Amino acid sequence: MPHITHDVTAAVARLRDGGLVAIPTETVYGLAAEAANPAAVAAVYALKGRPATNPLIVHVADPAWLYDFARDVPALALRLIERFWPGPLTLVLPARDEVPRAITANQDSVALRQPAHPLCLAVLRGLGSALVAPSANRFMSISPTTAAHVAHQFAGEDLLILDGGPCTVGLESTIVSVLPGHAPTLLRPGMLDVQSLEAVAGTAIVRHGQADVRAPGQHRRHYAPRTPTQLFDEAQAADTRNPRVGWIFCAAPFAVAGPALALGSEPDGYARRLYDALYQLDAADLDLLLIQRPPARDAWRAVTDRLQRAATSGS
Ligand code: TXA
Ligand code: MG
Repeated sequence: MPHITHDVTAAVARLRDGGLVAIPTETVYGLAAEAANPAAVAAVYALKGRPATNPLIVHVADPAWLYDFARDVPALALRLIERFWPGPLTLVLPARDEVPRAITANQDSVALRQPAHPLCLAVLRGLGSALVAPSANRFMSISPTTAAHVAHQFAGEDLLILDGGPCTVGLESTIVSVLPGHAPTLLRPGMLDVQSLEAVAGTAIVRHGQADVRAPGQHRRHYAPRTPTQLFDEAQAADTRNPRVGWIFCAAPFAVAGPALALGSEPDGYARRLYDALYQLDAADLDLLLIQRPPARDAWRAVTDRLQRAATSGS
């Protein structure tokens, strides 16, 4: 059985022993292991059921720790760090030769971030060493934003979960690569939007899709409920009358027979509540989950990205 605790010291002790601990961050909960412990890193892949081709993000307590992992930190990356760390921004930088290739999935780049959650920072400082932490969910399922979500994902496992309350951002970090010979590139949209990053970087950031830099592990179907899920613009009358259809609304909700959650018309609040809504409706044993398509505006880019991955069938 997973064990939920508020005890930072116990979490640090478990990590120091080479164990795994689910930790809160401001984005989503992470499944953490000490980056310097190869057996613990391997255990993260095994417990998640994650393919070895999908690299991990290294979490640091202080930007100074970056230099243990990154061979080169370009001026543009330093400007972003200065402004946005600690926070929901991950940077992909050239990796030092010493960085275990299990972390980078055999690439010569490494992803790094300094999370903003006070308990996460307390664990990192207590351990005095960096943590790898993918989202604390089984491969291809919904990222957790509460300790209870993590316990649900790993029911039956002897996993320590540090409870830091509901995540305040609610979607995974924005990932930008800053690599020699390539334009800075957005690899994964997040709630920290690319325009704000460009304003500080002082240069254009290439949007994912136009890029020549790979983001391994960004599967088309991802963040997925078990219930078949579709986005809709206009609801079908037959669905609105069907009690076995669940609904997530963003703008004005309308009357439906099945369970419905209205997440609001403001992107930050919507993002914070989205994964919890997916967990709730997925547990309701429905035939279909219908999600109202958000406005086609930049502020909704990260939310729409996750909804499209939740809704795609196949891999
Ligand atoms: O908000 C977050 O980033 C959360 C919290 C726990 O920090 N973590 C998270 O990790 O979302 P994960 O493992 O679910 O997603 C990490 C993604 C990989 O799927 C991959 O796309 C990208 O980060 N990534 C990691 N290292 C990379 C590298 N060297 N080059 C390109 N992409 C990389
Ligand atoms: Mg993930």
